[in-house]
Amino acid sequence: MADRHFLETAYDLETTEQVRAHYEAWSTTYDTEIEEENNYAQPARCATALASTLTPDGVRVLDVGCGSGLSGLALREVGFTAIDGCDLSPAMLELAGETGVYDHLFEADMNQLLEPPHSTYDAVTAVGVFSFGHLKATVLRGLLAVLRPGGALVIGLNDHFWDEGSIPAELNSIEADGTAEVVFREHGDHLPGAGIEGWVVVLSKLGTPPEPDLPPPVQPLSSGHAANQTVP
Ligand SMILES: C[S@@+](CC[C@H](N)C(=O)[O-])C[C@H]1O[C@@H](n2cnc3c(N)ncnc32)[C@H](O)[C@@H]1O
Repeated sequence: MADRHFLETAYDLETTEQVRAHYEAWSTTYDTEIEEENNYAQPARCATALASTLTPDGVRVLDVGCGSGLSGLALREVGFTAIDGCDLSPAMLELAGETGVYDHLFEADMNQLLEPPHSTYDAVTAVGVFSFGHLKATVLRGLLAVLRPGGALVIGLNDHFWDEGSIPAELNSIEADGTAEVVFREHGDHLPGAGIEGWVVVLSKLGTPPEPDLPPPVQPLSSGHAANQTVP
């Protein structure tokens, strides 16, 4: 059993500084408390939901708030192999690096994700990261902006934060203005060992995908017969 139970205070966090300090202190016992003692269900649920939306082959995923890497390990388990990760906590990032799952890891406060440079990922996951003091609901739009049109955003969160109301409200707003549509929504286990349930939601980003690289146009042949041909 982990020496200290950080889960008990995780829902009391309010500021980014408190959240960073919390995970810096929790890092070495996080996997024991969350996974071994409480059978953390969301990483596998989110990975399975993503795999049912996008075939893993060649899909580039950004795992936001990757923590110690449990969410990345679950993605790899269902076939995703091109995974980057980011997190607020250097100690958690170090553990994520030890899993060997991530191609590239970087430190970032994703609440400051104001204007991402361009759409680069096919999928973004945020497992257990939308919560009190953690990611704000408004960041959903920033995460969608990192996706290509047709790409998928998967979020997994507990009932406590879902019932706070800002996530369902932002999802409604995102669907209403046509930025993305919810293609999967499922209630189920979050941390069954602690009796906590939660939601998995998958959004598909709307918009026109960029034109694929087309071969050069077919040159008309010089004879009159061939010049009348149409290209199928
Ligand atoms: C409950 S853990 C989830 C970790 C991992 N996704 C998992 O499922 O095990 C939440 C993670 O979100 C990170 N986090 C919280 N606020 C963040 C922010 N503003 N930007 C980036 N990461 C953040 C924390 O450092 C922590 O590692």
